[in-house]
Amino acid sequence: MGTKSLCLLLASVLVAYYVYTPIPENIEERWKLMLINAGFRTVSHVAEFAEWLGLMHYMEVLMMITSIEYTAPISDENVTVTDTKFNNVPARLYIPRKQSSGLKRAMIYIHGGGWCVGGSAMEPYDLLSRWTANKLNAVVVSVEYRLAPMYHFPVQFEDVYTVVKFFLQNSVLAQYGVDPNRICISGDSAGGNLAAAVAQQLLDDLEVKVKLKIQALLYPALQTLDLDLPSYKDNENKPILPKSLMVRFWSEYFTTDVSLQEALASNRHVPAESSHLFRFVNWSNLLPEKFKKDHVYASPIYGSSMLGKKYPGFLDPRAAPLLVDDTKLLGLPVTYVLTCQHDVLRDDGIMYVSRLREVGIEVIHDHIEDAIHGVLMFITSPTDLALGHRVANKYIEWLNVNL
Ligand SMILES: *[C@@H]1O[C@H](CO)[C@@H](O)[C@H](O)[C@H]1NC(C)=O
Ligand SMILES: *[C@@H]1O[C@H](CO)[C@@H](O)[C@H](O)[C@H]1NC(C)=O
Repeated sequence: MGTKSLCLLLASVLVAYYVYTPIPENIEERWKLMLINAGFRTVSHVAEFAEWLGLMHYMEVLMMITSIEYTAPISDENVTVTDTKFNNVPARLYIPRKQSSGLKRAMIYIHGGGWCVGGSAMEPYDLLSRWTANKLNAVVVSVEYRLAPMYHFPVQFEDVYTVVKFFLQNSVLAQYGVDPNRICISGDSAGGNLAAAVAQQLLDDLEVKVKLKIQALLYPALQTLDLDLPSYKDNENKPILPKSLMVRFWSEYFTTDVSLQEALASNRHVPAESSHLFRFVNWSNLLPEKFKKDHVYASPIYGSSMLGKKYPGFLDPRAAPLLVDDTKLLGLPVTYVLTCQHDVLRDDGIMYVSRLREVGIEVIHDHIEDAIHGVLMFITSPTDLALGHRVANKYIEWLNVNL
């Protein structure tokens, strides 16, 4: 064998080693997912390298890559698409063209991306909004909130809250021909977090008279207290959201100070003074047996009270909607929760389902056994998956019947 072929063989082995990640048994299109995940890992490595060189912040690199997927607001035969501002916060607006006699339904959508990346203009989000507008004949408002590391909590929350509050005014709804009784707030991942937080905070806002009919939380992040839940342990290195990245997203939401990130990574960040909050995320009580498997519940280990004082955000229900008393859950709208089996955030969603059901809120829980985090991002070529289409259709069909 010549040196050239030996080098080629060695290179192929290295590439194969790099691309190969164990994909859960029950997942279809394994090789495509493996390639997609290799792409994600490459981006992450490039970002780490750029950060190590001191060239750019890790999230800025991710942001640059995701911005390749941005699309202009282009109207099509079914939907008029425009970029606008509600009370100075940008949003992309989708208005169905179909002539209809009655009032329309409305969807307020909040994109994911760990509070750090992404945008309503990203191709998959844009497509999902078009489908929603078209299939439901609904007005869709897709919020463009400001992101970390430039902006930290509560800016993301407040941007979304501002848009929602503006839109829910009767005069604004009338302007768009929207039925005030048929409005949904929805979001995926960090967007699901923001949707849940906004839905809770609206309950106490006496200035908002219009009530949401539905909140749809798609694999949401809902708590910062326990980052060692069974789902975090079972899915630590699953595509496309490894635990390390989720920890980084949480941390960046509050600060660029790495001491919080380190404390979060070792799950020693909650000060003893906040020990009372742990009952809200006690998976030993809140998870059905099938998700506990052979995990053993351990009492929390507390961290320094300095972190909690410096970055109180991570103990704030506007960032972690699971951290509220049951009384604060009363009055929430009908709730659709989508969770994925192979997802670090799985148990956040499941625990919220348990808590909401305990206080009598109607919850529809769609748990997808063969799904990974972020499935709804995989609906556009070349990274489209049959799974992404299936889950998107299911979600939109459910909305069509229930909104
Ligand atoms: C417009 O809506 C029709 C009917 O739902 C659909 O078949 C068509 O593909 C849509 N057009 C676009 C550009 O999405
Ligand atoms: C969590 O629940 C278990 C089982 O009910 C209980 O033994 C434990 O004390 C609880 N922990 C906290 C912090 O609430």
